[in-house]
Amino acid sequence: MSTSTTPPGPQAHPEPADPATLSAIPSPGGTEPEVPRYAPQWLQLREPADAAARAHELLDPLRIRLANRSGRATDLVVHDLGCGTGSMGRWLAPLVDGAQHWILHDRDPYLLHFATVGAPKAAADGSRVTVTTQRGDIGRLTTDALAGASLVTASALLDVLTADEMETFAAACVGAGCPALLTLSVVGRVELTPAHPMDQEIADAFNAHQRRGGLLGPDAVREACEVFGRLGANVLVQSSPWRLGAEQAELTAEWLRGWVGAAVDQRPELAERAETYLQDRLADCAAGRVGVVVHHSDILVLPRPAGGAG
Ligand SMILES: C[S@@+](CC[C@H](N)C(=O)[O-])C[C@H]1O[C@@H](n2cnc3c(N)ncnc32)[C@H](O)[C@@H]1O
Repeated sequence: MSTSTTPPGPQAHPEPADPATLSAIPSPGGTEPEVPRYAPQWLQLREPADAAARAHELLDPLRIRLANRSGRATDLVVHDLGCGTGSMGRWLAPLVDGAQHWILHDRDPYLLHFATVGAPKAAADGSRVTVTTQRGDIGRLTTDALAGASLVTASALLDVLTADEMETFAAACVGAGCPALLTLSVVGRVELTPAHPMDQEIADAFNAHQRRGGLLGPDAVREACEVFGRLGANVLVQSSPWRLGAEQAELTAEWLRGWVGAAVDQRPELAERAETYLQDRLADCAAGRVGVVVHHSDILVLPRPAGGAG
């Protein structure tokens, strides 16, 4: 799997903020080459760490809201935005009671195929879970597209949106009047042990890279709180760090390659020193001597329910 950044073409969408998620795979059939692609292998590699990191503290307030929703006799309808290979559904569906229908949204049909194949089958209480997919651009999401939704979810998505996309996304969610569980947005802080003098320089360059082209990157959580708050929603925030040790060496190594690669893309003058840094870190990683905490935040948005109490 390539973890290098793909140079954007003239009409390319902005690249995703986490370069470790980038894939050099061509689109199936060679269509739509400008849209950045995430390698399913990367999304699968990070799935256990994501599942371990998401904040369980937000689940009870979410369950209470879902249990009190109007129309609660019917199946839950969950829209997972930027679903990738569907890891959010595999994590959340078995943690929530009741029959569920998940609508998985992504602009990448290749990832939607993986999401369908790996779809969750059963809720916490054994009720059935069904899945359909919808290809589209979250930057054009409308309230109508979320009509009838009981819940909107997203994971590792907010930091790859622009401020305009965040506005559109938040307006659609709040307009639909349903809660939104938005997990694993990076917040721009990493801790590596043992510490190295170059850590902060790489981290700063990486964060600058995440903000390129108007992407929110490490500002996504603050921006989401601001936008959803302005729209009258309650926003609960919990930290959800990846804690990577010797048992996650493969993920750590892949993350390190992407992290350092993005820093060098941002500041090419770092290349030589960064390569030495990376090789030292990878050797330590292979020997089980590196610990990494990648800080994220999860958000639960509780808008006023559309047209009623709850
Ligand atoms: C970092 S991946 C996360 C995937 C998945 N939620 C997970 O946690 O494994 C971001 C996903 O959002 C999708 N995506 C990014 N921007 C999008 C947009 N504007 N419209 C639709 N999908 C988008 C990408 O195709 C990718 O699948």
